[in-house]
Amino acid sequence: MKTKIALAEPSDLPEVLALLNESDLPEAELGCSPGTLILTARDVDRLIGCAALEVYGEHALLRSVAVAADRRGEGLGDRIVESALELAGRLRVVEVYLLTEGAEDFFARHGFQPFDRSRVPSAVAGSPGFTACRCADATCMEKRLAASRERRNRSALALSLHDLAPTDRPEPTGCACG
Ligand SMILES: CC(C)(COP(=O)(O)OP(=O)(O)OC[C@H]1O[C@@H](n2cnc3c(N)ncnc32)[C@H](O)[C@@H]1OP(=O)(O)O)[C@@H](O)C(=O)NCCC(=O)NCCS
Repeated sequence: MKTKIALAEPSDLPEVLALLNESDLPEAELGCSPGTLILTARDVDRLIGCAALEVYGEHALLRSVAVAADRRGEGLGDRIVESALELAGRLRVVEVYLLTEGAEDFFARHGFQPFDRSRVPSAVAGSPGFTACRCADATCMEKRLAASRERRNRSALALSLHDLAPTDRPEPTGCACG
């Protein structure tokens, strides 16, 4: 069965909240903020994974990453996190933060590194997802997307150079005039 990852519809919210409850993750104010984007992973009619991005300009909080217990270990968590990071990049987010208890190594695979909580930008630190984390001992992690942004800028430059090339091209020699 092909699992589809997509932006959530409002009608997905009850299933997302149920998955977060089953996964023992806080659901605080998920879906209430206009800057929150939720991704869902579905096998046809069943929601089997989710993640959410709370976006605050160039900063974002990745939260609510969960996979249904009977579908863990199949690579779906990796796919959801990569989709969320790709989405963040497209939204010009530069730094993504998260809080986790127990999944530090999982997020480290995706380039997240432990980060001093007191240095988290105030918009993220005061966000519903950040403040909802029940455990003060949860590990704060950060990933910079600047490199991807530079890559995008480089591809944009390559594209514009490519676009310019035909007009700059010299006329063929030995033209047939006269
Ligand atoms: C964390 C979670 C999303 C991972 O989902 P998943 O679909 O099982 O992950 P994947 O199958 O893509 O695993 C990819 C790799 O990460 C590893 N991994 C999975 N969960 C891990 C964890 N908690 N800690 C360390 N490594 C983990 C897997 O072993 C696998 O490694 P491998 O490729 O070397 O075998 C899932 O276990 C979950 O929903 N946990 C409960 C909620 C939670 O803790 N969310 C994170 C905080 S927001």
